[in-house]
Amino acid sequence: MKISLIVAKDSRNGIGKDNDLLWHLPADMKFFKETTTGHIVLMGRKNYESIPEKFRPLPGRLNMILTHNKSFQAPDCLIFHTVEEVLGWKEANKGDERTLFIIGGGEIYRQFLNTNQVEEMFVTQVDAVFDADTFFPEIDEAVWQRELVLEHSADEKNKFGFRVYRYTK
Ligand SMILES: NC(=O)c1ccc[n+]([C@@H]2O[C@H](COP(=O)([O-])OP(=O)(O)OC[C@H]3O[C@@H](n4cnc5c(N)ncnc54)[C@H](OP(=O)(O)O)[C@@H]3O)[C@@H](O)[C@H]2O)c1
Repeated sequence: MKISLIVAKDSRNGIGKDNDLLWHLPADMKFFKETTTGHIVLMGRKNYESIPEKFRPLPGRLNMILTHNKSFQAPDCLIFHTVEEVLGWKEANKGDERTLFIIGGGEIYRQFLNTNQVEEMFVTQVDAVFDADTFFPEIDEAVWQRELVLEHSADEKNKFGFRVYRYTK
């Protein structure tokens, strides 16, 4: 089992505001869905609650949620209470060929990057600047190499253009 991360950020690393996304980009949502379907997604409790009820748990994926709240429950989701518990679960399931995708938000991205166990990142770079209150950490270009995997221009349905980079160490 590999740990990957997937995020969409603006030109200043903004990823969210008021527990919501900053943009509506169906083409990037499609990339997210195609990349993560059939795999495992791990999210913070706030990210989970920001997903409209009818869309959660994210279909076709094992949904895992991190919360300190021992009585928190969510239908058809696995609940974890520490980062170490998630890493222990990953170790116990290392023969599982699915990827464990860290899907945010900000607190979850930061803590998993600090574990140094993230092997791969898919980063959507949105060509705009927003008034964000949640940010992705600065990517250390000395540690991570990137390749362009998708480029999409602004169009009728996607107000902003974006590029998706795959980062590996
Ligand atoms: N652009 C993107 O790609 C993207 C992706 C995902 C999310 N977002 C945005 O990011 C924002 C949410 O991010 P956020 O940083 O505010 O919240 P978050 O990371 O989604 O969730 C934070 C919560 O996770 C739990 N948690 C965090 N660390 C933990 C630990 N070590 N052990 C146990 N539980 C832990 C806590 O839940 P409890 O309080 O229940 O203990 C904490 O309040 C929203 O605006 C969302 O739209 C953007």
